[in-house]
Amino acid sequence: MRCIASGDPAAAISSKIGGIIASKAPPGSFRGGGFLFVDVREPSYISRMRKIYMDHTATTPLDPEVFEAMQPYFLEKFGNASSVHSFGREARVALDSSRDALAALLGAQSGEISFVSSGTEADNFALKGVAALMLEEGKNHIVTSRGEHHAILEPCAYLSRTGFTATHLPVDGSGRVHVGDVRQAMNPRTGIVSVMHANNEVGSINPIAEIARVARENKTVFHSDAVQSFGKIPVNVTELGVDLLSLSAHKIYGPKGIGAIYIRRGVEIERLMHGGGQERGRRAGTENVALAVGFAKAASLMQKRMRAEHRRLTGLKTRFRSMLEERFPFLLFNGHPTESLPHILNVSFDSAKIEIDGEALLFNLDLAGIAATSGSACSSGSIEPSHVLIAMGRDIETAKATIRFSMGASTTDDDIDQSVSALERIVNRIGRKR
Ligand SMILES: Cc1ncc(COP(=O)(O)O)c(C=O)c1O
Repeated sequence: MRCIASGDPAAAISSKIGGIIASKAPPGSFRGGGFLFVDVREPSYISRMRKIYMDHTATTPLDPEVFEAMQPYFLEKFGNASSVHSFGREARVALDSSRDALAALLGAQSGEISFVSSGTEADNFALKGVAALMLEEGKNHIVTSRGEHHAILEPCAYLSRTGFTATHLPVDGSGRVHVGDVRQAMNPRTGIVSVMHANNEVGSINPIAEIARVARENKTVFHSDAVQSFGKIPVNVTELGVDLLSLSAHKIYGPKGIGAIYIRRGVEIERLMHGGGQERGRRAGTENVALAVGFAKAASLMQKRMRAEHRRLTGLKTRFRSMLEERFPFLLFNGHPTESLPHILNVSFDSAKIEIDGEALLFNLDLAGIAATSGSACSSGSIEPSHVLIAMGRDIETAKATIRFSMGASTTDDDIDQSVSALERIVNRIGRKR
């Protein structure tokens, strides 16, 4: 999306949609100089529109049952889980039961789960925590992949500036890492391998159990970021063979601001936070009991609904895809056709066949009430193509003309129909066939 800012509160925060002249200007908008200006602060503009949320990969709404479970821990059950009196004990019981529940869902032991603030913190903890001890063993090499989230890539970049080296494995055209590449990248100085379970942009699922086996053969710690897969497909730490695993609550209808890390018993890791002895000395800071309760509740609901929801979302995705294929012969589908999360549909407009501004496309979808994303990053005011799509071999223009639709519990057949129709209208208006 175009980054728009206005220092003058009296001025409308207006955005310009290049070259588009609406036949009927929507409320809260005005036309001038051949452009449609939309005042995004105008409440009538927002409220009259039926909005369709197609960005469940970015975050999910809180499940009302989760909210209900959390509520007492914001109000009457407010104790500090480290206090020994009854208020503290009540909080401690809730915290440890939440830990037990998460551990059981993962096939882990309770003591192997630590609550943290986010998936990002779990990823940072895994990499920096292991790296801090690697040097003592004469190891300084990290293996990761080009498809990882920034929560992995950035700590790797940081560590590379402080005496470590990192190998970024390629991904194939479907966004998956190959086991042979992992084997080849390992050397006696490799101290950690980190490969994500499922990719957040294209949904492709990596062969984690096989990669874990290679890491184990080399006596190397293996971490996987399961932020997107947890709750959507089975995630069992024993079956996957991971040593460390990152999770986040807000991707599964839980609260924002809490994540968890699984640390297999016996794995040596340095803490990031120093202070009190919370989380068995692994992560200092008074625990947020309400969020932990919410996380565990969300995870159990996901587990209960997983099979049926997987089937339902797969059906929606198949229908969505075939409707798009029918209407847009120049569309490329990103991600593995079968080894993939059921709710992510990532598509690119082939730059060799159609010229279309991905930014305008998304903006127009938003105006039509459809919230999707491009997977592109807005850095220093300019749009960068997705590093994942580039790693998969897409050219820059095609990567920029990409939309990620991610469905969820609220998504219906009608949402798909509306999204396809809106896309058709917009592409006919702003796309130019080559
Ligand atoms: C694969 C992946 N890892 C890590 C994160 C970061 O999680 P959080 O938003 O909880 O910091 C995300 C968030 O989008 C993600 O998709």
